[in-house]
Amino acid sequence: MKPRIVLAGGSGFIGQSLSPFLLSKNYELIVLTRAESDHRGAVRNVHWDGKTLDDWLEFVNGAFAVVNLTGRSINCRHTPENRREIIDSRVNSVRVLGQAIARCAQPPKAFVQIAGVGIYGDKGKRICDETASPGDDFVTKVCEKWEAAFDSVDAPNTRKVLFRLGVVLGPSGGFLELLSKLTRWFLGGHVGSGRQYSVFNVTSPNPVTNAELMRELRRALHRPWSPPVPEFAARIGSWLMGTEANLALVSQRCIPKRFLEKGFSFRFPELRSALANVYPNQ
Ligand SMILES: NC(=O)c1ccc[n+]([C@@H]2O[C@H](COP(=O)([O-])OP(=O)(O)OC[C@H]3O[C@@H](n4cnc5c(N)ncnc54)[C@H](OP(=O)(O)O)[C@@H]3O)[C@@H](O)[C@H]2O)c1
Repeated sequence: MKPRIVLAGGSGFIGQSLSPFLLSKNYELIVLTRAESDHRGAVRNVHWDGKTLDDWLEFVNGAFAVVNLTGRSINCRHTPENRREIIDSRVNSVRVLGQAIARCAQPPKAFVQIAGVGIYGDKGKRICDETASPGDDFVTKVCEKWEAAFDSVDAPNTRKVLFRLGVVLGPSGGFLELLSKLTRWFLGGHVGSGRQYSVFNVTSPNPVTNAELMRELRRALHRPWSPPVPEFAARIGSWLMGTEANLALVSQRCIPKRFLEKGFSFRFPELRSALANVYPNQ
């Protein structure tokens, strides 16, 4: 029997890349989704509501690992209603997965919770490893509540690991999709001036500034220099696109200290090679 991985929220941008990779490693894959249950190729989608224990519990029992990717995107206007959904979707999913694991006769070996480097807030040029202090903006508050919920999961027989993701680069979705659209439209200037569980920064070992990111993106997409986008224009543009400028204006110079200490080998340690992989035919 293949070892089973339960990907909660695995229908999204990251889940769609992670699923084929995990299948290629010969895992059985269950995606917990608010959509109807069905089979798509080798992936089995199982319905849940992200907050209530139900029949999906049987797939957690005996699983090799549970990976939680659930969360309403923060890429939207941070209205009171959206703020509530951003927090609740994260906290509730962590909590109910914890309850599921607690009920298992055969608990999973690992519970991997995906979180974000947004916890560090706006740190300018300061290097943030896993010990950096939290910030004080809304995204920090989201991340703190998210991590506190994970911290509260009582799963003595399951290894708990928390991954704080940086911006994930991929061809179809995420932050890069928006930036690449702007860059293709010649608008790709740079913007604006220990707990008991293991925490890992999941970022490149070579963090770049926004100016370097946009320069490399213009290069990858064969676009010339574009004028910088001043902060006020970024704020107006973000408002028009229904999102928050701060998501692009805050600075986190994160390094994956714990992965580096463990000798993890990065396939694309530099931005240029990562973008060449995302846009192979440009
Ligand atoms: N992408 C990045 O650069 C990045 C960076 C740092 C951290 N992260 C975090 O990593 C996780 C996965 O990111 P992603 O880019 O793959 O996100 P995504 O594409 O938005 O997918 C997240 C999944 O969460 C589920 N979801 C959305 N709203 C929900 C709600 N209100 N209640 C319950 N479930 C809901 C959806 O699944 P269903 O519709 O199938 O239920 C969706 O497919 C997120 O928690 C995100 O905050 C991402």
